[in-house]
Amino acid sequence: MVELIGGSPHSGWWRILLVIAFAATFFLHVFCHSGDDPGYNFLHKASIAPPISYYDYIVIGGGTAGCPLAATLSKNADVLVLERGGSPYGNPNITLFSSFGAAISDLSPTSPSQRFISEDGVVNARARVLGGGSCLNAGFYSRAGPVYVQDAGWDGQLVKESYQWVEEVVAFRPEMGGWQSAVRDGLVEAGVVPYNGFTYEHIQGTKVGGTLFDKEGKRHTAADLLKYANPSRIRVLLHATVHKILFRRKGLTRPRAHGVIFRDELGNVHRAYLNRGAKNEIILASGALGSPQLLMLSGVGPAPHLKAHNIEVVLDQPMVGRGMSDNPMNAVYIPSPIPVEVALIQVAGITPFGSYIEAACGENFAAGAPIRADFGMFSPKIGRLSTLPPKKRTPEALAKAAELMSKLDARVFQGGFILEKVTGPLSNGHLELRTRNPNDNPTVTFNYFSNPQDLTRCVQGIQTIEKVINSRAFSKYKYKGMTFQTLLNLTAQAPVNLLPHHPNVSTSFEQFCKDTVMTIWHYHGGCQVGRVVDSDYKVMGIDALRVVDGSTFLASPGTNPQATVMMLGRYMGVKILRERLAHREHQ
Ligand SMILES: Cc1cc2nc3c(=O)[nH]c(=O)nc-3n(C[C@H](O)[C@H](O)[C@H](O)COP(=O)(O)OP(=O)(O)OC[C@H]3O[C@@H](n4cnc5c(N)ncnc54)[C@H](O)[C@@H]3O)c2cc1C
Ligand SMILES: *[C@@H]1O[C@H](CO)[C@@H](O)[C@H](O)[C@H]1NC(C)=O
Ligand SMILES: *[C@@H]1O[C@H](CO)[C@@H](O)[C@H](O)[C@H]1NC(C)=O
Ligand SMILES: *[C@@H]1O[C@H](CO)[C@@H](O)[C@H](O)[C@H]1NC(C)=O
Repeated sequence: MVELIGGSPHSGWWRILLVIAFAATFFLHVFCHSGDDPGYNFLHKASIAPPISYYDYIVIGGGTAGCPLAATLSKNADVLVLERGGSPYGNPNITLFSSFGAAISDLSPTSPSQRFISEDGVVNARARVLGGGSCLNAGFYSRAGPVYVQDAGWDGQLVKESYQWVEEVVAFRPEMGGWQSAVRDGLVEAGVVPYNGFTYEHIQGTKVGGTLFDKEGKRHTAADLLKYANPSRIRVLLHATVHKILFRRKGLTRPRAHGVIFRDELGNVHRAYLNRGAKNEIILASGALGSPQLLMLSGVGPAPHLKAHNIEVVLDQPMVGRGMSDNPMNAVYIPSPIPVEVALIQVAGITPFGSYIEAACGENFAAGAPIRADFGMFSPKIGRLSTLPPKKRTPEALAKAAELMSKLDARVFQGGFILEKVTGPLSNGHLELRTRNPNDNPTVTFNYFSNPQDLTRCVQGIQTIEKVINSRAFSKYKYKGMTFQTLLNLTAQAPVNLLPHHPNVSTSFEQFCKDTVMTIWHYHGGCQVGRVVDSDYKVMGIDALRVVDGSTFLASPGTNPQATVMMLGRYMGVKILRERLAHREHQ
């Protein structure tokens, strides 16, 4: 049975609030969002594609990296983008700040999010929509630090220009409410100094970062970067699921990618090939799950594993699918005695010991919508879900809990989360095919905290959160007499993952880290630089094939990755075009 902590029954006030909220949502929807769709004339359903077509570049995945990459390439070449999902435009679950979480709890086959559960037992999400993860995410926008850029061997000036190119369209300065400001000041009191004000830069100390949400609460995504595209040289196909990359091998010393097979929304098969030309290429940008999965489905991966799935081996590459990491995230839920603004991540505490502190607050689901009892979400309603043993966390039991909560007064849900994310991380795992269907999730294992240093960083992060909560600046948002121990006990009871909880889950910080681990969705790896692709993002051992997305990362950049994923799309687009022009001049 599900127990709920405190709360008062249905009140008239609640109903009035619902009506107001509903009216407000309707107003926003009708008056502020009709003009959102940029009306790209190059965006089509995949079924309009001929059975066979030819391009200079074929980009697989119109996600966070794929959109800026394709927009850039179209300046000087004919580009095809194949995206398995639909358009983000006109879907309020994506465009409205107030509906954060709606898309990731939508489990329908047409959802812009595809749920996966890692073998570790942590519920996670991957994008299935034009714009990719930038359509689902919490919007926090923050660059990578100079050390990261240097280690990656990137050209610093082009990196800077590429970030600016992205920021021009998608990044905004957030409006800070009381709760986020209290976390910011509490971080400074806790010694996460200096205070660096509002900045996109990754610098030690406390800062306010950027956001994809504009002043009206409208989300801007990587799909908006297609505004930069040359409409006469780009075609973007939606609901185009790539099943296989095709290679030419006859008479060549190494395999050369030359085409793809994809299916449209009706299930019909199409082929797209590269035009003749030494510089034409296929570029995988299908994300940390999609890119290694598609390489394997195309015959590039560990030979024994491919053979076990009856896949013809094009190149035995044992490193495909290796180095999968997901930065562990642990959060502490703090109920508040006073009202709290609704905000996703705005503040970041960048500590010297490799733990990043961020926070989310308020009831962020569109008022009046049914409560979605889901895992690992930034909702106080999740904080309010009480003891349900992991095995009993069935959808029915969660729905029941949600129903009980819907009868409570809104005040019960005042509060927020302060979370910490472990940098890197150092722990990693692997990805394997489950089936030969590209629509199915592969199996992924992240091995959270298998490296003890990740655990140390988590514990230090939780200790910092304790200091923030006990700071003078934060005191008004905490019930008097509610100790940190009580908050940990409360948080440990929320159904945030499928892991068993040990009896010492809330009395040992180590155990708290392990048992209440969640994802902050910054998973990466699978086609890492130096292991699967070279420093130019070319797949080693194969011609005319690159990977440009989060699967290439050795570690997650900055506090949060999306700024750098978009930057990399632009950066590599510029690099690839420069190579193309240099080649032409030599001819
Ligand atoms: C809920 C959530 C919250 C997050 N919060 C933040 C945040 O606040 N700040 C931040 O910086 N980062 C955040 N992130 C992380 C960030 O959004 C991701 O790291 C980033 O979007 C990954 O980009 P990508 O280009 O590697 O992959 P994606 O953006 O996932 O792009 C891959 C694309 O390829 C497509 N695809 C895959 N397979 C195929 C196929 N076979 N055929 C055709 N198309 C295919 C997919 O549909 C997808 O559109 C969050 C992520 C999530 C999910
Ligand atoms: C929005 O998400 C909810 C579930 O979270 C789903 O029921 C609804 O159909 C979605 N709406 C759209 C337009 O996708
Ligand atoms: C927290 O939980 C532990 C273990 O279940 C218990 O011993 C302790 O009394 C609780 N403390 C508080 C303050 O709730
Ligand atoms: C917590 O308790 C479990 C047994 O229930 C034990 O194996 C583990 O070592 C303990 N963890 C810590 C960090 O003390």
